[in-house]
Amino acid sequence: MGEKVEIKINDNGSIRVKGDVELVDAVGNLFETKKAFSLCRCGASENKPFCDGTHKKINFESQPRAK
Ligand code: FES
Repeated sequence: MGEKVEIKINDNGSIRVKGDVELVDAVGNLFETKKAFSLCRCGASENKPFCDGTHKKINFESQPRAK
């Protein structure tokens, strides 16, 4: 059985993905990723789909909680 994957929604920032996953684009091509990586959630990254820290500059605010 494979390792469990964790997807964490960071407060005011990225989506952190950790584990054995493949990240593909809309036509199925693989993005090169490490064992853990951060996806942009604010929409302002210059390096989409990855987070480049721009969320801090634009004061992105979002703190969703699982109920
Ligand atoms: S979430 Fe970090 S740049 Fe968008």
